[in-house]
This record gives sequence, C-alpha cells and structure tokens, in this order.
Amino acid sequence: GERPVEDTFGRRINYLRVSVTDRCNLRCRYCMPEEGVPLKNHDDILRLEEIVRLVQAALQVGIKRIRLTGGEPLVRKNLVSLVRELASLPGLEEISLTTNGQLLESLALPLKEAGLKRVNISLDTLQPDRYSFITRGGSIEAVWRGIRAALAAGLVPVKLNVVVVRGFNEDEILDFASLALREPLHVRFIELMPIGTAAGEYFGYVPLQEIWKRLAANFKLEPMLDLPGNGPARSFRVAGGPGSVGFIGALSEHFCSRCNRLRLTADGKLRPCLYWQAEVDMKTPLRSGASVTELARLFQQAVCLKPWGHRLEAGWNEGSFMCQLGG
Ligand code: GTP
Ligand code: 5AD
Ligand code: SF4
Repeated sequence: GERPVEDTFGRRINYLRVSVTDRCNLRCRYCMPEEGVPLKNHDDILRLEEIVRLVQAALQVGIKRIRLTGGEPLVRKNLVSLVRELASLPGLEEISLTTNGQLLESLALPLKEAGLKRVNISLDTLQPDRYSFITRGGSIEAVWRGIRAALAAGLVPVKLNVVVVRGFNEDEILDFASLALREPLHVRFIELMPIGTAAGEYFGYVPLQEIWKRLAANFKLEPMLDLPGNGPARSFRVAGGPGSVGFIGALSEHFCSRCNRLRLTADGKLRPCLYWQAEVDMKTPLRSGASVTELARLFQQAVCLKPWGHRLEAGWNEGSFMCQLGG
C-alpha cells in the first residue's frame, strides 16, 4: 500500500513484469534462431517462493500491478499456485499474463480462479499456414481454443498482440480490424523491434503510421480511453463492434517518458529498461537471507537506474533476446 516511488525523471514506477521462465514452446522467427537460445541453469531460475518474496519487496516500493511473462509463462510448472499466492498479497491490485496461447485452453479457468485478471495473447496472423511458419510449428487452433477459454473464464479484456512484419502479415491489418468488429477482442499492432533475431534483418519494420492510415480509411475508429491496461498502447474502438485496435509504436513513438515499469528476469535480475544492459542482481541477496525491506531497497536502486530513454535506432541492445527479457 505504498506510494509508487518516482525515478530520477519523475516517472512513477508501479508496474513490474515478472518473467517466470526463459523457456518457450515456440520459436518465433523474429524472436529466436531455429535452435533456440541458450537456457539458464535450472538452479539459477527463481523458485516460486522466491518470486513471491521479491514481489512482496516490490509492493513495499509502490509496485501495484504485475504481469507474468516468459519465455512462455504457461510452461512453468505450478504457475496456478504462484498466481494464487501472489493474489493473496495485500496491496497487489492486478495480476495479468502475456502468453502465446498454446497451453491456455486448459489453464484459463484455473488461472482465473487463482486470481489472474486478464491475458494478452500473441497472434501475429489469422492464417493457419502463416502461423505455423512464423512460430516454426505452432498450432493456431490451439491459440483459438485458448482465446475462447479465456473469454469464457472471464480473463478479460482479452488482448491480441500482433507484431507487424513487412511482407509477412501487413496484408492482414484489415482482417484483424474486422475481427475486432465481430468479437470482444482488443488487437494491438506492435512495431517490430530490432532485438533478438530481428536485430540483424531490420527490413521487417513497418511504421505504425502506415497501418493507422490503412485502418482509418476503412473503419471508423474512436479513441478508447477505458480499456484496462498498464502499457504504452493507444486504443481505438472499431465503431459498431465489441473490440478495438491499438498501437504500440515501440520505435516510432518514444513513450519512454511515460515508462512505468521494471522487469524481473527468470534468474532474478531487475532490468530497469528493456533496452539497456544495466541490471540489479536480486537472487544473490535473496538467497543469502536478505529481509524483504533490504530487498525493497534494491528495488529502489533499480528504479534509480532507469535511463531517460532508449537509443534503439543507434543499435543498442544487440545480443539480447525478447524471450530473456520477458517482452
Ligand atoms: P497492458 O497492461 O495490457 O497494457 O500490457 P502491456 O502492453 O504492457 O504488455 P504486453 O506483454 O502485452 O506487451 C505488448 C508489447 O509491448 C510487448 O511485446 C512489447 O513489444 C511492447 N512493450 C512492452 N513493454 C515495453 C517497453 O517497456 N518498451 C517498449 N518499447 N515496448 C514494450
Ligand atoms: N519486436 C516486437 N515484439 C516482439 N515480441 C517478441 N519479439 C519482438 C520484437 N523483436 C513480442 C511477442 C509477444 C511479446 C511478448 O513480445 O510477439 O507478443
Ligand atoms: Fe516464444 Fe514469445 Fe519468442 Fe514466440 S515471441 S518464440 S512465443 S518467447
């Protein structure tokens, strides 16, 4: 129940993204190479009770919302009990999750019952063959069963993350908007970031401005200010339908000045910024018996390390993978 700490630039940091595993059951082409990424040692991955303890410390410095990420969070064993324990912590206002949806069908209801509020699901294409191509073998049917299960369980609003890649899915923009016209789904178009395997072949980048123009020429879009969310997306209702389209201009928009977040990696490091190498090791103090108050002080330190903004265009952060940073 603390007031969020402010960083050096007056930003209020109240949102923590917790990566619960560096493993993933897919191999999206813009994210990882075919052979995957080197995995951390099992011993270096935080145990569930360690995650709970760190979240307790985070709550002391004003974190109020957390999002579970990966890798793919649903491959982590006992995730449902983690959610249940987190949900019982006083002062935590919201637990959400970002998933590729492959394993969501059977987990949606148990997660909801454990206290999860809502899910964001990655779905870059509506075409089965394209889905299987971009994910190197994933099943779009499984994602759709997961989406249905999430809606049925009340893990709402359900958001769909669509990374736009030139020559791959740019011709599906209007199809996604039609989907939002038919279903209570909140599509977010995301600019491809030069990170992971997308770092080298930067030709896939499509500025969202271009997507906006195409959408606006075909649909009536109305600003939607009441969609629950903690991220940088800007959303618009597709007039006449239950869903929305949104934009995450990861490169073109420079929303760093509104950044509200910290990231915790699966091996217990706090990352003040997605695009910056600085980190604060939490695992060592945690495992040598630091108190929650001492851990909270380290959270504060990480907040102080937040830079003013990134310089992605200048080629920062080569050599990192999205799956290791938790998206
Ligand atoms: P909401 O609470 O629903 O708003 O979630 P979110 O948008 O914060 O979370 P999600 O995991 O769905 O993130 C969607 C995408 O936004 C990520 O995959 C990234 O591409 C992008 N993103 C998330 N956080 C950051 C950030 O700090 N910086 C940048 N540049 N992009 C981010
Ligand atoms: N650029 C933008 N988004 C990415 N994601 C993974 N790699 C990239 C990238 N290079 C997205 C996934 C998922 C989220 C967690 O991160 O598609 O929606
Ligand atoms: Fe897995 Fe997400 Fe990377 Fe795809 S983008 S390989 S689902 S971590």
